[in-house]
Amino acid sequence: MAELGFEVIGVDVDPAKVEMLSSGRVPFFEPDLEEVLARNLASGRLTFTTSFADAGDFADVHFICVGTPQQAGANAADMTQVFGAVDALAPHLGPDDLVVGKSTVPVGTADAIAARISTEVAWNPEFLREGFAVSDTLSPDRLVIGVRSERAESILREVYAPITATGVPLLVTDFPTAELVKVAANSFLATKISFINAMAEVCEAAGADVVKLAEAIGYDPRIGNRFLAAGLGFGGGCLPKDIRAFMARAGELGAEEALTFLREVDQINLRRRSHTVDLARKMLGGTLRGKTICMLGASFKPDSDDVRDSPALDVAVALANAGATVVVTDPKGLANAERVYPTLTYVDDIVKAVTDTDLVILGTEWREFRELDPTSLAEVAATPRIIDARNALDPDTWRAAGWTYRGLGRPVR
Ligand code: UGA
Repeated sequence: MAELGFEVIGVDVDPAKVEMLSSGRVPFFEPDLEEVLARNLASGRLTFTTSFADAGDFADVHFICVGTPQQAGANAADMTQVFGAVDALAPHLGPDDLVVGKSTVPVGTADAIAARISTEVAWNPEFLREGFAVSDTLSPDRLVIGVRSERAESILREVYAPITATGVPLLVTDFPTAELVKVAANSFLATKISFINAMAEVCEAAGADVVKLAEAIGYDPRIGNRFLAAGLGFGGGCLPKDIRAFMARAGELGAEEALTFLREVDQINLRRRSHTVDLARKMLGGTLRGKTICMLGASFKPDSDDVRDSPALDVAVALANAGATVVVTDPKGLANAERVYPTLTYVDDIVKAVTDTDLVILGTEWREFRELDPTSLAEVAATPRIIDARNALDPDTWRAAGWTYRGLGRPVR
């Protein structure tokens, strides 16, 4: 918002984060974000505070952007942070202020917030991807605003004018549609990934190649080739918990049956992880006990240090639980991974991580891993075996360099 030219104050309850941001440091890895932060701190348009009173005094439009993680022990979303933020802000709101929800929430939340505060509410879901957060925010595919009045609509049209001026479509809806657009989009994306991973299971059984299959069906513009990368499946802080929260909310609304397919989407996704563990065991002669395995990848996707529900880390932990020594390497995710799973071994240097291992698994397709030289790496591994769990490497090149190569959903040869 500061980049678009607005005066912005960012509020967080964590003083350490506010301190970091105020001094120009981003508390997580996101490409280009540090430059945008520095530029807007320097211009004086962007400041940070822990004070809701300051925010209430300062701003006319208040975006709620807090997390909605999965509840412990249930599928539903934990709404503590959303209602916490709204309640903390409420006493400081002016009568003409607009509160705009951006968090991914169960449908009905905007209504619930509107009933809780005296000023007007709008809903404005965001669709940014980690790793592309800056460009997805400044040049989104579309903008969606759920409003109840022309006033709210015109305020948000003014906020987004610099973006809509470039031709980005802005859709105006009611509250529940705006809330549902977000979870529907994420459910579709999750379904697309699980679809291709289900095809990978069949390809494995039939001796076919899911990578070629995806390429071939992707040429049909009705299908499209994006989000058809078969492999270890989806993780992160969004898709897994969003499909679960969506099922839980549909159940509350009496529409449970409509989303039972998402349970299957979730199952297919999780099955890729256990399949990878089974494949590792098979490649290592039937047991993982006493074996050393290198996991290339800790973050849930490349260009992010986010390890929430990371498929690569999940597999690493399962292998360790089955008796293997697991060495994990990742360009950015090691510190976060070590905080969550302190018992795995973490090594910064890729070659050192691979040295003397019985099996390498590519779990996150960072560019650093895709560009590895299979010939020199084969020399340091105890035995050159690799599971390319993201189908990110060229099988022929790796086999020619002496590796026993296995992809997911690809022929064994
Ligand atoms: C996702 C959505 O893509 C965003 O549009 C949405 O705004 C965001 O969630 C959110 O709800 O905030 P993100 O979680 O950052 O974004 O990551 P994705 O790029 O969607 O990837 C999710 C997972 O799917 C990753 O683990 C990735 O490795 C996996 N994936 C993706 C595949 O396994 N195959 C693919 O073809 C694509």
